[in-house]
Amino acid sequence: MIILKTPAEIAVMAEASRVVAEALAIVKKAVSPGISTEELDRIAEEAIRVRGAVPAFKGYRNYPKTLCASVNEQVVHGIPSKRKLKEGDIIGLDLGAIVGGFYGDSAVTVMVGRIPEETAKLVQVTEQALYLGIKEAVVGNRLTDISNAVQQHVESAGFSVVTEFVGHGIGRQLHEEPQVPNYGKPGQGPRLQPGMVLAIEPMVNIGRSAVRVLDDRWTAVTVDGSLSAHFEHTIAVQPSGAARILSQLEKART
Ligand code: MF3
Ligand code: CO
Repeated sequence: MIILKTPAEIAVMAEASRVVAEALAIVKKAVSPGISTEELDRIAEEAIRVRGAVPAFKGYRNYPKTLCASVNEQVVHGIPSKRKLKEGDIIGLDLGAIVGGFYGDSAVTVMVGRIPEETAKLVQVTEQALYLGIKEAVVGNRLTDISNAVQQHVESAGFSVVTEFVGHGIGRQLHEEPQVPNYGKPGQGPRLQPGMVLAIEPMVNIGRSAVRVLDDRWTAVTVDGSLSAHFEHTIAVQPSGAARILSQLEKART
């Protein structure tokens, strides 16, 4: 069952998502050669807590940290550690926060210093795929119109979408129905309705699509060792027009 949210509930989810967006911006700024992913986790947790919110991932199914920090061939759910970033790495930063009983969830992939052109293209295409997916999140469309837009863009760039992990509904739970795959034929699944709140999260590999989970039981890596990127936004389907991106900071208008 898909739980629709009222405008008042969406306002609370916007708060949770804004905390995530602000915390991600702070962590992003701290990314540089020499910093450890554990230090980034500490910065993330502090940024969430000073805003009066609670980290969403810490303790979720025994996940030990606030941040998911996925470096290079790590796809998602990398556990922060003593590992230090170096120039040329890419790192996926995934954060969730709880405010007033509701979740917000967002992720970005950032480049550490100078990056080979192909790597920069992977990151750019993955972010573009997210926005193309969000563009389909309108009343009148069906769920897999989002999925198909993501897959088309990724594959026309010559990259692969990850199929083992998917986006999701979000609300009083981190993961609600529906699942939001990053692949599939258009025009299938539930019709999108106002009040649906979704976490759309393309995961894209330069090489083959296959992933496996390391012995730590969390870190997902590409089987072929190729680089992987991940972007995620929490969005709300509106009564009309484009979806509202809850986890995007308002751009200053002049
Ligand atoms: N954005 C990820 C997801 O939706 C984050 C979950 S990490 C976990 O699955 F630790 F909370 F599982
Ligand atoms: Co998510």
